[in-house]
Amino acid sequence: MIEYKSPEISKRARAVIDRDQRIMFGAHTRTSEIPLVVDHAQGAKVTDIDGKTYLDFGAGFAVVGTGHCPPDVISAVEKQIRKLIHISGSDFYYTPQIELAEKLIKITPGDYAKRVYFGSSGAEAVEASLKIARCFTRRPRMISFLGAFHGRTFAGMTMSGSKKVQRAHFSGLIPEVYHVPYPYCYRCVFDKKYPDCITHEYNGVPLLHCVSYLIDVILERLIAPDDVSLIMVEPIQGEGGYIVPPKEFLPALRTFSDDHGIILIFDEIQSGLGRTGKWFACDHIGVAPDITLTAKAIASGFPMSATIGKAALMDPGVDRRAWVPGSHGSTFGGNPVISAAAIATLKLLEEQYIENARDIGSFLKGELNAMMDRHEIIGEVRGLGLMLGMELVKNKETKEFFPSQVTKEGKNIKEVITGECFKRGLIIYGAGISSLRMSPPLMITKDDASAAVKILDEVISGIEEQMK
Ligand SMILES: Cc1ncc(COP(=O)(O)O)c(C=O)c1O
Repeated sequence: MIEYKSPEISKRARAVIDRDQRIMFGAHTRTSEIPLVVDHAQGAKVTDIDGKTYLDFGAGFAVVGTGHCPPDVISAVEKQIRKLIHISGSDFYYTPQIELAEKLIKITPGDYAKRVYFGSSGAEAVEASLKIARCFTRRPRMISFLGAFHGRTFAGMTMSGSKKVQRAHFSGLIPEVYHVPYPYCYRCVFDKKYPDCITHEYNGVPLLHCVSYLIDVILERLIAPDDVSLIMVEPIQGEGGYIVPPKEFLPALRTFSDDHGIILIFDEIQSGLGRTGKWFACDHIGVAPDITLTAKAIASGFPMSATIGKAALMDPGVDRRAWVPGSHGSTFGGNPVISAAAIATLKLLEEQYIENARDIGSFLKGELNAMMDRHEIIGEVRGLGLMLGMELVKNKETKEFFPSQVTKEGKNIKEVITGECFKRGLIIYGAGISSLRMSPPLMITKDDASAAVKILDEVISGIEEQMK
């Protein structure tokens, strides 16, 4: 039970919170700093039940890329809802699901024949990709990265390496998953400096020290590459702290996977669908995986995920090693109404918002960089498009972490900042151990970006004043 002590909560809001807390499960990640009871939302603005409006720089965890309640998506849904709501796309045929799959095949990376599987959540796409790779290769071992987040089902949780609470007391994880360091250069676990950490190549591709640790140590001493079915990686780590790896990272994983018949899976559930200013984060590097996972922003808030992979991996008619009819499926996956919402969503992204994410993203990043120069507690600004993160440090020189609890009440620095921003009308989230993430709807304006920066600047100045 979270205790909301703020005197600013209205009676109406408190009544809703109390009612919720009496019956909802207790594993939510809500914080006492943000007692937001939402009434409605439009574009980048969220209105609470007392009529106060907030600028939304979280977008429901990077879901409403097209903004809240986009009219084009609403009309597509209204039209479809009158024709067909559900029939089961795994057993019957209907065009919205096909049209959406055709579009996803066009926009996902990889110049090869593809197949698409629809689920209802990101974790389901993760699950599906594991089954595809395990079935095709018949190999038991899997590689994932420290800091990764791939969801909260058993497979998602097993593949994740973000926070211990996500795995604590849930033993019996899927066996044979090995986590290796991600190129989190700001806090390199090997204490190396990029690009000096590149000392040699693998088959003509430069190796970062952490990738060399994977290839030259883990896959040399501990695991035979021929036992590895898959490498799963976020091209930009989301929950881990909005960490952008150096450009040498994905090409090395691609080359090594190709050489050893390992299936390379890019989890673009958070970074994909225009958020970084291109359809997918890996498009910035020009490296394609064997399987792309997408979810979150795909249908403007309606629950859907898509697993898009090589036809050979997903269709036994193309390669007999692929999974066979009955190996996998989902009751709701590819639902006609959600498919219609997704088609309209992708159209908006393509015609307007990806470009806006690029433009406003680079403006916002410039502003955040300028802000970093003014503040002692901002150690790094990073990200692409409108997937921007900020590392918070107690001391810029030493990169010292804030203590896990900075207030008497046991709050950490992320909670303090996001809570203070909330009081001033800005919704943002924390990420990683000590970072803030900005993932607004991709349709925000320059004025929205400036307004968010102004609030954040004031909040951080206030905190620095108190630290003196
Ligand atoms: C990169 C990534 N993968 C997987 C997931 C899991 O998605 P879902 O919560 O829809 O299951 C998330 C959710 O935050 C994510 O960011």
